Amino acid sequence: MEVKGSVAIVAGGASGMAKATAEQLAAEGATVAILDLPSSKGAEVAKELGGTFHALDALDYAAAEATINEVVAQHGALHIAVNTIGGGGGMPMRTVGKDGAYPLDNFQRYIDLNLVATFNLNRIQALHMSKNAPNEEGERGVIIDTASIAAFEGQIGQVAYSAAKAGIVGMVFTMARDLGNIGVRVNAIAPSLFATGIVAGLDEERAAVLCKDAAFPKRMGKPHEFANVAMTIVKTPMLNGGTIRVDAGTRFAPK
Ligand SMILES: NC(=O)c1ccc[n+]([C@@H]2O[C@H](COP(=O)([O-])OP(=O)(O)OC[C@H]3O[C@@H](n4cnc5c(N)ncnc54)[C@H](O)[C@@H]3O)[C@@H](O)[C@H]2O)c1
Repeated sequence: MEVKGSVAIVAGGASGMAKATAEQLAAEGATVAILDLPSSKGAEVAKELGGTFHALDALDYAAAEATINEVVAQHGALHIAVNTIGGGGGMPMRTVGKDGAYPLDNFQRYIDLNLVATFNLNRIQALHMSKNAPNEEGERGVIIDTASIAAFEGQIGQVAYSAAKAGIVGMVFTMARDLGNIGVRVNAIAPSLFATGIVAGLDEERAAVLCKDAAFPKRMGKPHEFANVAMTIVKTPMLNGGTIRVDAGTRFAPK
């Protein structure tokens, strides 16, 4: 998919890995629409990039649909969607812990934010992409979701997060098949520990402990490294249905 002249939604684009991706997309000539919480720095980021900001809590599924419609009404089309909304936050909890069985409402919370909210964005993004004229390759759009290496090697206490991220890994392959007939590709990126949000401020010593399971380099990922992979996915039609680990060879230990 040609970046120059395309319209891109970057959901979660006010910070971290999505912000770095929004910057690269804008630098290469895409019109970028940032979707993020009203309390985020999305408006500032969008202004810097000459794009637009659309305040959204992605857990409001109807509002998410309306927001994507608004982006398309404003910019005329949608070609690229990068979605990072999600997170692991909260205390780790074992399936059976000292307070009993894992609280189901907590499990549901992770699934809602990481999986249902992402699929909700994807289905509306794909619908709009299906209306694009195909390029010479027959391509109409590309969607990138954010998994985690916890989808494959969830650590003790991460059952809800790893289930949600494994859902992303599973659904991108099936969506790629579903959407092949309309020329829309779907992939996921699975990062290891990246220097975003609160962990961005960790000193080198504490970061080294957290990155001890990496092969090389033993450090946290940098947001632009996620963005580099996202840009490669956008530009490479043969990348479809897959989840690309960006993890310095990390395999998380049980804890
Ligand atoms: N940072 C890591 O170490 C790491 C590792 C693996 C996977 N991930 C995944 O990466 C994604 C987060 O990216 P990041 O690390 O760049 O984090 P980040 O906190 O810098 O960015 C996440 C963005 O999403 C927005 N957001 C959160 N909840 C929202 C909601 N309900 N509605 C709208 N916007 C919302 C936040 O405001 C923020 O701007 C998550 O899906 C996370 O699970 C992160």
